[in-house]
Amino acid sequence: MNYIELREAKLRGDTRQIAEDYKDSNGTVDYSNIEVHKGLVGVYADESLISYIDGVEGRLYYRGYAVHNLVKHSTFEEVAYLLIYGELPTKAQLQDFKDLLIKERNIPDNIVQLLKSFPRNTTRIELLRTAISALSLYDPDDYIYTEDANIRKGLRIIAKMPTIIAFAHRIQTNQPLVEPSDELSHSGNYYYMMTGDKPMEDFVDAFDKVLICHGDHALNASTFSCRVTVSTLSDLYSGITSAIGTLRGPLHGGANEAVIRYLTDEVKRNDNVIPWARNKLERKEKIMGFGHRVYKIWDPRAIIMRDLAKKFYDAYINGERLDTITETGHDHKHDDFIFEMTEILADYMIKNKGLYPNVDLYSAGLLHSLGIPSALYTPLFAAARSVGWVAHAIEQLRNNKLIRPRLKYTGTLGKVYVGINER
Ligand code: COA
Repeated sequence: MNYIELREAKLRGDTRQIAEDYKDSNGTVDYSNIEVHKGLVGVYADESLISYIDGVEGRLYYRGYAVHNLVKHSTFEEVAYLLIYGELPTKAQLQDFKDLLIKERNIPDNIVQLLKSFPRNTTRIELLRTAISALSLYDPDDYIYTEDANIRKGLRIIAKMPTIIAFAHRIQTNQPLVEPSDELSHSGNYYYMMTGDKPMEDFVDAFDKVLICHGDHALNASTFSCRVTVSTLSDLYSGITSAIGTLRGPLHGGANEAVIRYLTDEVKRNDNVIPWARNKLERKEKIMGFGHRVYKIWDPRAIIMRDLAKKFYDAYINGERLDTITETGHDHKHDDFIFEMTEILADYMIKNKGLYPNVDLYSAGLLHSLGIPSALYTPLFAAARSVGWVAHAIEQLRNNKLIRPRLKYTGTLGKVYVGINER
C-alpha cells in the first residue's frame, strides 16, 4: 500500500487495510513500527475556523482577529459572539446577545439548594463541574440536539457559570449571596457577584480583558475533551462537564491557582524567588505558569496580562488612590509585591531554562491585585473558556467524526488462563 492509500485507510479507520501495511515477510502483522505520538504532540486532529496559535511567533487569533486587537477594542460579549457565530456582531446583534446573557444569568433554585448541600472546603472547580452537570436536567432544551438548541444551551451555560461560581464560593465562605445585576456587563456583574463590590470602569476593563484572553485556545486539553465527548453524539452539557474536569488539572487551568499558592505560601519575598526556583528545578519539579505545548516563546496572553498587572502595580507604587477602584473601596493587595516576584521569576526561568511564562503566571498576579479570591481563579478560567468550548462543540457537530484514536499495545498476547485456585 502506498502512502496515500495508507493515509486514506487510516482516515476511514479501515483496520484491515492498515494491518496489511504492517505485515512482515511471513504475513504476520507487526505493529512494532507504528509511530506513537505520545501526548498527541504535533498531531492535527481536524480542521478548524475558530482560533489559530502561532507558537513560533507567539501570536493568537480568534476567527482571524489578533487577540491583542480584540483586547484593545472589544468586550467579552463581543468576543463571545465572534467565537460562537464566526463574525463580529452588528450593534443590534450585540445588544440582543447582551440582553440574552443578562436574561439567562439566574440559576434554578434547585441548583442553589444543591450548592448549599455540598461539603465545605471543596475546590470551587469541583462544585462548578457538578453543578453544570446537574444544570442540564433543568434545561428546557436538554433532549433537543439541533444546532439552534445547542447554541441556546451554550449561551445559558456561558451566562450562568459566573452565577454558579460566585454562589458556590459565597456559600462555602458563609457570605450572603449577591444576586445578578441587570445593569452590569458580563464581567462587571461576575466581579460584583463574587466580591459583593461594584467595580469601577478600570477594574471592569481589566477583568474583561482577562476573560477575553481566556476565551479560546484551539485544541487545548479541555477543548479536546469537549470535542471528544460531543463527537459520540452525547450532549453539550456532558461536553462542558468533561471539559471542566480536564481544565481542573495543574498542567492546564489549575496552574493559575498553583502560581498564587506558591508565590504567597512558599516564595513570599522577592529575595527568596531565585533560591526557591533553583531548588525546584534541581529537584526536577515543574514551576507552574511556565512552558507551553505550542508556544516556545512568549505566550501573547501573558504579555497582555503582564501589561495589565504592571499598570495596577505602577499605580500602587505611584501612590495612586487604588481604594477608588470599587464602589465600596476594595482592599488592594499590592502590599505583597506579587508582580515583582513574577518579574524576577520570569527573568530567571527565561535565562536559565529557556522557559517562557504562560498566561497563568501573570493572570494569577493580576487576579490577585483585582481582589478576586484565589479559590476562584480556575473556575474563572472555565467561565471564560466556556465560550470556546461551546464554539468547538458546535463546529465538531457540524461535520462530526467520532474521535477515537488508537493505542499501541505493548503487552504479551495469548497468555494461558490459570484458574483462581491455581494462581
Ligand atoms: N517548569 C520546569 N520545567 C518545565 C516546565 C516548567 N513549568 N515546563 C516544561 N518543563 C521542562 C520539562 O521538565 C521537560 O524537561 P526535560 O526535557 O528535561 O524532561 C521540558 O521542559 C519539556 O516539557 P514537557 O512537559 O515535556 O512539555 P509539554 O509540551 O508536554 O508540556 C506543559 C507543556 C504546559 C504541560 C508544561 O510546560 C508544564 O507542565 N508547565 C507547567 C504547568 C502550566 O503552567 N500549565 C499551564 C499551561 S497554559
